Amino acid sequence: MPFATLPGVHSSLQSAAIAGAGARPVEVQVDLALGLPGFHLVGLPDHACQDARTRVLTALRNSGYHLPQKKITVNLAPGDLRKEGAAFDLPIAVGILAAAGLIHMPERPPMLVGELALCGDVLPVRGVLPIALEARKMGMNRLIVPEPNAPEGALVQGLEVYGTRTLAEAAEIFADVGARKPAAPASQNPPSSTADLADVRGQDAAKWALEVAAAGGHNALMIGPPGAGKTMLARRLPGLLPALSFEEAVEATSIWSVAGRLKPGEGLLAARPFRAPHHTISVAGLIGGGTPLRPGEISLAHRGVLFMDELPEFGRAALEALRQPLEDGEVSLVRAKDRASLPARFMLLAAMNPCPCGHAADQDPGRCGCTPAAKDAYSRRVSGPILDRFDVHIEIGALRTEDFLGQPKGDSSSDVRERVESARAVQRQRYARIPGLHCNGQLSGPAARRLANATDGARSKLAEFIDVKRLSARAHDRVLKLARTIADCAGAERVTETHVGQAFQLRCLDRPVGEGKRPPRLPPLQVARQNVLLRDPGTPPGELPREGT
Ligand SMILES: Nc1ncnc2c1ncn2[C@@H]1O[C@H](COP(=O)(O)OP(=O)(O)OP(=O)(O)O)[C@@H](O)[C@H]1O
Ligand SMILES: [Mg+2]
Repeated sequence: MPFATLPGVHSSLQSAAIAGAGARPVEVQVDLALGLPGFHLVGLPDHACQDARTRVLTALRNSGYHLPQKKITVNLAPGDLRKEGAAFDLPIAVGILAAAGLIHMPERPPMLVGELALCGDVLPVRGVLPIALEARKMGMNRLIVPEPNAPEGALVQGLEVYGTRTLAEAAEIFADVGARKPAAPASQNPPSSTADLADVRGQDAAKWALEVAAAGGHNALMIGPPGAGKTMLARRLPGLLPALSFEEAVEATSIWSVAGRLKPGEGLLAARPFRAPHHTISVAGLIGGGTPLRPGEISLAHRGVLFMDELPEFGRAALEALRQPLEDGEVSLVRAKDRASLPARFMLLAAMNPCPCGHAADQDPGRCGCTPAAKDAYSRRVSGPILDRFDVHIEIGALRTEDFLGQPKGDSSSDVRERVESARAVQRQRYARIPGLHCNGQLSGPAARRLANATDGARSKLAEFIDVKRLSARAHDRVLKLARTIADCAGAERVTETHVGQAFQLRCLDRPVGEGKRPPRLPPLQVARQNVLLRDPGTPPGELPREGT
């Protein structure tokens, strides 16, 4: 005889557990039996989940329910999935009421999640959006959640979501769902930032480099003295990227929901996330971890920008932990009893000074008071493999007086975004048949060589540069990828010598041949300075160099 067909003795209803950035179904089975009164909870619950026994019994009593003196056994299936947190309180309590015959068990019971306060109130939980997505995937048509979470769950189409404030109200909705109106979906959030690229004065070369980085999805490193506008530029990068698609917004919002970062009533993220963690952040804070598992900054930046200001000040372990997620677009976290994968596909933008005092590259050489040893130690704080993951290295000079005092000029963020969107459209079309590949920044070395479509002239120019500058094979591929993006920005089908020349200027910090060797001891900017002219002198500021210039 099936488990759920003995009303008054057993009950079975659906809930869900957060797993990574998504959710997995959990069946809450309740059994009431004769014997010594007690409450047993099985099915791999953690400490917070075990505490449900106390919360549920007290909340039931304080909500006015008189339970029969029986032995209560609750099983959360499947038994091999770890159940964390207090979100199973509500389904357990409603399951007990149904098993005891105190409420009617509908033919198609809704899914439930929610934490209970001792007084019987229902408290908000994390991860309602992925839980609602999972409910729809399972073919459920109704979901009961804490009231503050209801607009978030209602974002999922084809699912009726009901908000509840108390256990008694949840029981009523559960037994007679038709009598209520489902919650309305949360409205679109207003864009959080109004910062525009036009506010940044001067720095045309840096703006162009940022545009290329945005167009190809390339990671970028900005190096310059204090107060040059590095942070200002970084904050404007999300506004240069194409608008979030619906699928991207759902992915990013699900992660924010699991992390407990969505405020009550908040809808899908309207703009690409911009995360700028402080350099004292721990490894777990950056890549995720803890119990229960929380997404780190790299996952909160999924589909957006992670900005690491003062890059050399970050802990070595935190920086090195970035290497795998940067390659894979996701982070795998292994814990004592389980493992989880969290999405982490973001653009990495970092900023640093050229030396500890920040003035190594100033026109006035006396301004820098750092010893060679201090400069060397400073540049060594960022390892070669991490530096290698930045396709674009942007030198930012001190702001010129005439730029600072004159009228602000240059393109607005929306002008640049339009050009970036066209370049991205070309890339999407080129890579349409390769699953998961959307932009040049994602190309592997061999793929870049196969798909770049470079002219013979471009290839020999690249070979010549590699020879003269003694660059590694990896650096060759990165320059080629950048050249492909510059060609896409210019609307050119083939990568030409001009594009290679410009791409090389955006890779001014390349390492010499020989794995494991340190970069040259010169402060990076002394190398960069020779390459600072990024556009043809005839090209007006704010306009990309066109094919053939
Ligand atoms: N290019 C610029 N255009 C307009 N204002 C600027 C520019 N550069 C700097 N500023 C002004 O200087 C302030 C500091 O700039 P910002 O924080 O971006 O400098 P930074 O390069 O990040 O410096 P640090 O190395 O100290 O972090 C800005 O808030 C802004 O008011
Ligand atoms: Mg700064």
